Amino acid sequence: MAKETNEILGHGDEADGIEEYDNPLPDWWLGLFILCIVYGIGYTINYHFISHDSQEKRYLAQMAEAEIRWPTPEGPASFTITDELVAEGEGVFAQTCASCHNANLTGGIGPNLIDDTWIHGNAPEQVLATVTNGVSDKGMPAWGPVLGPKKVQAVTAFVLSKQGSAPATDPTHATTGEGQGGDAAASGEGSGDAAQLPDGPTIYATNCAACHGPEMKGLVGPNLTDAEWIHGGDIDSIKHTITNGVPEKGMVAWGPILGEAQIDIVARYVQSQGAGLQD
Ligand code: HEC
Ligand code: HEC
Repeated sequence: MAKETNEILGHGDEADGIEEYDNPLPDWWLGLFILCIVYGIGYTINYHFISHDSQEKRYLAQMAEAEIRWPTPEGPASFTITDELVAEGEGVFAQTCASCHNANLTGGIGPNLIDDTWIHGNAPEQVLATVTNGVSDKGMPAWGPVLGPKKVQAVTAFVLSKQGSAPATDPTHATTGEGQGGDAAASGEGSGDAAQLPDGPTIYATNCAACHGPEMKGLVGPNLTDAEWIHGGDIDSIKHTITNGVPEKGMVAWGPILGEAQIDIVARYVQSQGAGLQD
């Protein structure tokens, strides 16, 4: 590499008196320059000929991601029920829906899904839309943002595949809307008789474990035992979050389902399990 000479090129006159040395490029700079060229060739070969990538592909991938995060009100486009979808949906249902709709779909907190009574319609697109968007004021979470369109389709296919597999009517369905959850909602309304209420672990296991995990370490919903709280870790904040939910994030509003007394119990239980006590 040529040495620095500190010779001046001598065109200062045309450049307002600013002079320029006639020195070679510094080695490190030249090295970077060559490295960029080599990298660029490698990148081009990889982009076009090895991973067969394209701007269109990336765009489509981003749109698919967006559909998961912000599902359209109509839900995913219509779908075909296949055996694979049903099989996948069975697992999703057991993990995500059974806590409210019962493992055999006969209803609990949420209505029976295999009788003839449908609140929001039983056409495939209607069920798909209900599952995707939920019914937040009635305690049915919006599963679109939580599960993504693929799993929502699968679990919907599973629900639809079960139609006609059980007795046509079920008494639990009659009460749909207000206060299903039966004894839970009834006893929760300030009867003040704590002896009749289930304890924290029971309420948690029945209603919350599906999303927050059996040990509260988080699953669909966040870990509740760490010191991190999105909505506050003091007892009032926890009660407030549980009562009102965070519908747009998939946390159910439990107020109408559990009632004040049970929320108090489960909130204290949640807090007692947490590392971040802030009472
Ligand atoms: C936190 C409790 C809860 C969970 C978990 C839950 N649901 Fe629901 N679901 C409800 C409630 C409550 C309703 C009734 C809504 C209403 O009254 O409008 C409902 C309604 C529905 C309906 C409409 C029924 C009708 O008659 O129109 C479908 C379909 C449904 N749920 C499917 C699912 C699926 C699939 C899952 C799992 C991905 C799921 N639900 C998880 C509580 C729940
Ligand atoms: C359908 C899934 C689901 C169920 C069932 C559910 N949660 Fe949640 N929960 C969530 C999600 C998702 C969030 C996160 C909300 C957010 O990101 O703002 C959350 C947040 C919370 C928070 C706030 C955590 C924080 O960091 O501030 C508490 C407390 C909580 N849930 C308690 C409960 C309790 C108690 C139950 C049972 C009565 C329950 N959850 C049932 C999904 C669920």
